[in-house]
Amino acid sequence: MQIILGIPGGIAAYKSADLARLLANDGHRVRCILTEAGARFITPLTLSSLTAEPCYGSNPDQGEWRANPSIEHIELARWADLVAVVPATADIIGKAANGLASDLLSTVLLATRAPILWAPAMNTGMWAHPAVQANLARLRSFGHSVVDPDDGILACGEEGSGKLAQVAAIAEAILMHGAPKLSSLIGKRVLITSGPTREDLDPVRTLTNRSTGAMGIELARAFRDAGAHVQLVLGGDLPAPWGVETVRVRSALDMLSACEARWASADGLVGAAAVADQRPETFAAEKVKKGERPETMVLVRTPDILATLSAARRPGQWILGFAAESENHLAHASAKLQNKGLDAVLVNDIQGGRAFGAQANTLTPILAQGPQAPIGPLPKDELARAVVHWWGHQLEARGTVQ
Ligand code: C5P
Repeated sequence: MQIILGIPGGIAAYKSADLARLLANDGHRVRCILTEAGARFITPLTLSSLTAEPCYGSNPDQGEWRANPSIEHIELARWADLVAVVPATADIIGKAANGLASDLLSTVLLATRAPILWAPAMNTGMWAHPAVQANLARLRSFGHSVVDPDDGILACGEEGSGKLAQVAAIAEAILMHGAPKLSSLIGKRVLITSGPTREDLDPVRTLTNRSTGAMGIELARAFRDAGAHVQLVLGGDLPAPWGVETVRVRSALDMLSACEARWASADGLVGAAAVADQRPETFAAEKVKKGERPETMVLVRTPDILATLSAARRPGQWILGFAAESENHLAHASAKLQNKGLDAVLVNDIQGGRAFGAQANTLTPILAQGPQAPIGPLPKDELARAVVHWWGHQLEARGTVQ
């Protein structure tokens, strides 16, 4: 990708150097534009050294100018596949929201037809101010994306929202724009379950499993990158990915109700969660003491989320399930496909501790017509992209694209 990184004057400007380095090392061309205030926080030399590209600015001393500086902004605006403003200050947000063009960065922002992404960072009071929020809402209405700031202790000493998002999260948001889209998934609503469920016995004890949720999170990213609108119903403690609407859940029952509330408006469902099959029959509000309870625990079945949603599906909705089996995995998976009314099952062979928490994995897709060629072994992010690709092409071939 050809990325323009606009760097206005905020204390988080030093983190933009890290972002520029990360993107350049990943093989992208990055040209930085420093505003006058930005150049007080970080130097053009830092940025041009990290990116091996010139650094631009309104002040000729700040960067390299071409023969005709008056059209520089048009050239840069055309060159960019994406313009990212990091850290986005209240000032540049206000300018762009109102169409002002008083320096190189603001003119490029107005002239470009490339997607624009904002990563705001500012004092909590400024961030919460209705003027800033209204300006951002306006930018969103123009189709711009925003990577919201994190909560934390800010440079001004205050604690709250306004801290620049993690550099890795901003990079992910930038790179999403360059990812190839799949016509069968663009604009489609995909609901994904992921992670373990936790079935509580009392306030301190819980029944759970070894799933981390990593695979479902990577699938959420891959569907998002392919152009889908993703809703992720997530158990466990892993951080939610950027650009995915995430609902945190704890138990199988929580997961079912979060899914039921969203299923009617979805185009597809991916059941990647390791849902507990049983839960304790009762929950004790106070910690159960030794000897207070019989030594055996009574368990009751949890609802099968995929089967429940499958029974309520309307024409055109598709469902992918997962299976983790330690023996005879293809036969078990085919039975699951039938019993739960799924379009495909992706089979993990968990023999030898593979799948849970492992870095690389292989999935074998099973369709009604039988097993397909295995996908992998691949690291989970690449595996997720390969699965989404495979499924996107299946959808195209089935002609379910409306
Ligand atoms: O029946 P089994 O648990 O092996 O099926 C695995 C598939 O079913 C996975 O896709 C999993 O997310 C889903 N599942 C579910 N609700 C359950 C149990 C499993 O949606 N209660």
